[in-house]
Amino acid sequence: MFFRRILGLLLLSTAIPARADDGSQAWLRYAPITDTTRYATLPNKIVVLGNTPTDLAAANELQRGLTSMLGRPFTISHQTEDNTSAIVIANLSTLSKIFTLSGNKLPPESYTLGPKTEGASHRFIVLGADARGELYGAFHLLELVGTERPIPTKPTTGFPSSPIRWVNQWDNLDGTIERGYAGRSIFFDNGHVRSDLTRVHDYGRLLASIGINGVTVNNVNSDLRTLSSDMIVEFARIADQLRPWGVRVSLSVDLSSPQVVGHLPTFDPVDPTVIAWWQSKVDEIYKAIPDFAGFVIKADSEGRVGPSQYHRTPAEAANAVARALKPHGGIVLYRGFVYNNHLDYNDLKADRARAGYDNFHALDGKFEPNVVIQVKHGPIDFQVREPVSPLFAALQHTSQAIELQITQEYLGQQRHMVFLVPMWKSMLDADLRANNQGTPVKEIVEGKSFHQPLGGFVGVANVGLDANWLHHPMAMANLYGFGKLAWDPNLATDQILDTWTRLTWGNNPTVVATINELQRHSWHTYEQYTGNLGIGTLTNILSYHFGPGIESAERNGWGQWFRADAQGIGMDRTVATGTGYIGQYPPELAKVYENVNTCPDDLLLFMHHVPYTHVLHDGKTVVQYVYDAHYEGAATAQTYVPRWQTLHGLIDDDRYNETLKLFTYQAGHAIVWRDAVTRWFQKESSVPDKQGRVGNYPNRIEAENMTAEGYTPIDVKPWETASNSKATVCNQPTGCTLTTALDKPAGTYNISVQYFDFWSGKSKFSLDLNGQPIGNWIADDTLPPARAENQPNGDTSTRITFPNIILKPGDTLTLHGIPDNTEPAPVDYIEITKQ
Ligand code: GCU
Repeated sequence: MFFRRILGLLLLSTAIPARADDGSQAWLRYAPITDTTRYATLPNKIVVLGNTPTDLAAANELQRGLTSMLGRPFTISHQTEDNTSAIVIANLSTLSKIFTLSGNKLPPESYTLGPKTEGASHRFIVLGADARGELYGAFHLLELVGTERPIPTKPTTGFPSSPIRWVNQWDNLDGTIERGYAGRSIFFDNGHVRSDLTRVHDYGRLLASIGINGVTVNNVNSDLRTLSSDMIVEFARIADQLRPWGVRVSLSVDLSSPQVVGHLPTFDPVDPTVIAWWQSKVDEIYKAIPDFAGFVIKADSEGRVGPSQYHRTPAEAANAVARALKPHGGIVLYRGFVYNNHLDYNDLKADRARAGYDNFHALDGKFEPNVVIQVKHGPIDFQVREPVSPLFAALQHTSQAIELQITQEYLGQQRHMVFLVPMWKSMLDADLRANNQGTPVKEIVEGKSFHQPLGGFVGVANVGLDANWLHHPMAMANLYGFGKLAWDPNLATDQILDTWTRLTWGNNPTVVATINELQRHSWHTYEQYTGNLGIGTLTNILSYHFGPGIESAERNGWGQWFRADAQGIGMDRTVATGTGYIGQYPPELAKVYENVNTCPDDLLLFMHHVPYTHVLHDGKTVVQYVYDAHYEGAATAQTYVPRWQTLHGLIDDDRYNETLKLFTYQAGHAIVWRDAVTRWFQKESSVPDKQGRVGNYPNRIEAENMTAEGYTPIDVKPWETASNSKATVCNQPTGCTLTTALDKPAGTYNISVQYFDFWSGKSKFSLDLNGQPIGNWIADDTLPPARAENQPNGDTSTRITFPNIILKPGDTLTLHGIPDNTEPAPVDYIEITKQ
């Protein structure tokens, strides 16, 4: 027994070869599995009864996946007489070619999987309600095999939670992507749809595998050319690529299109000429794209025009467009993200969080049945922690979809690992207690709570031309998880995560356990070292929403305020003394939030203005909690690298190295965050850290304190984003030098150099010890988001670490920097820590 176990372990650890992988296959790698015996009952023959592109896609996918994973050839046949021992792919309309099934009732897009044995014939049936259902059934079967889970022994049905399971791409026609962090658009280039749409086809496959059935291909900040006749013909090419995967195309449109594209004197939504224009435009679209899904509309928001220009309501605008789509079965997703970004900071009653509810609740019931209000999960804008939007409970006679952001806009931009499924689950499970009844958000958007006909899930996605789609291999779990939750919001986080990990990285137990553990708490960790207690993420909101830039949120019209002063911090959103926002929630929940003692700590600063010394439920003061959370979170981020290194050799080198590089970057950037936020709180509150860590860095040598040849000190803005608020820069093309004498006791150390990496240059650095090289590197900007500003600040600050350096007292450390273009080889500090 003992020896068998040892042998088993040996086999497990050697069984999976590390093959090269650029990540492009994501969770559809179909790597060979070790134990194929349990799938021996799956016949080698696949019989597909229909012959639409989607039927064939289902058959081809099964053939491809099963052949690869099980290591035996699977063939495809269209001959119904061949089906005696076969995997049969059918749907309710093709099924009658070979047999009937009693009670043929399957909801749209659903599937039933399972064996059907009659006499000597052994069939495994993949039965879809329709062609899409077949595809989803095929992918489900492949997922079971890929994760080495049992396949059904009796018919098992899967069906989607809601009809709307879409992604919104924020791609611009010029090929850039709003909030894109993984390369240029797969859809567009240079003002047109790309000539090579191979990646779009592949994307359709990925989306279908997780049950997504719609893609809005262009930015919500829609290009005014979108509805021109030339572009419609081009969009049809995208639709052709996605159609086999059951994914329908939709477009983001600007409400001024009747005027801008149609050359009408007005775009007033109730004007008869405008109504007629929308109808003829929609008819034109359906001629080119017969399965067109509909429009997404962003209006009266962030500089987009809207119905307010004509004193019309969002309902009047949405309905005008919806009526044109109705005869074709199309829908309008009208975004609830309508707010004034010129709020008056001095008005203590002004509150951006109120906007969604204030703009829409009175319109409840006034929308056409094919209008859906698309509501961001929180009332502000995808911050690391927000309460769920109160609008969900206010629209009881209107279909709604929840908008989640797969794109990590405020959440580390796919340079930090932040697994978002736990955050989304907390939103979907949030019970608003509308009408004093259980009304979790997931049931509201499924249309169950208020009996609405439509509804569902929209994920903002920013896949790009990067081979692995989202830049960070771990970020793909968010795309996968979004699709899975849209299909079934009741799925457990761990189930989603474990399945993704196995399909993406293989079934080796060490690999699975390590990656699951890394991902599982990564949102919490990111929250710890960025914005705590509901204050907001604390990124520089006036720049790229990436690194820290704390006061950027204050004293401007954007309304992402937290109203800090020397005494206290937080937005007073109470009904009693604040903006009244809390009163937008149904009474039971409003009562919990209104009282500072019952308000959950993680939303405290979103709901209340409190002194820094306010005591939280765990007994810590607000300010000490902020210090401790930041040190704890940053410390956890330091563990990602060593934990990842335990997987060396167990996964392919390509993805291993790529992820290692990102974790190394995240570890350094978490320290930038920690120091910025804790120093800012200490300065603002004048309350010192009980543990004396904040502002006290005994292992650091500030660049401005080193002996400089050519390097000059500058002030960094905002001040909290550099150690001692200063950097040194080199403006001599031949390079500059910083030297310091060390007084470290003899021993082995890690030496980290904290420097700034701009996208505009590739400065060269080298580090010497007593004239002997330790290492050299180029600041090539591939890690901070490529478009971060050309300034030393929290966006561009990064570090490199040289481990295992043997030091003794009296050593001399020298850093050489050679600037490039407008990047002056900027340096913040050197940190020397004992191993
Ligand atoms: C955020 C984001 C914008 C985007 C907007 C939206 O504000 O930063 O880039 O256009 O959301 O959702 O419309």
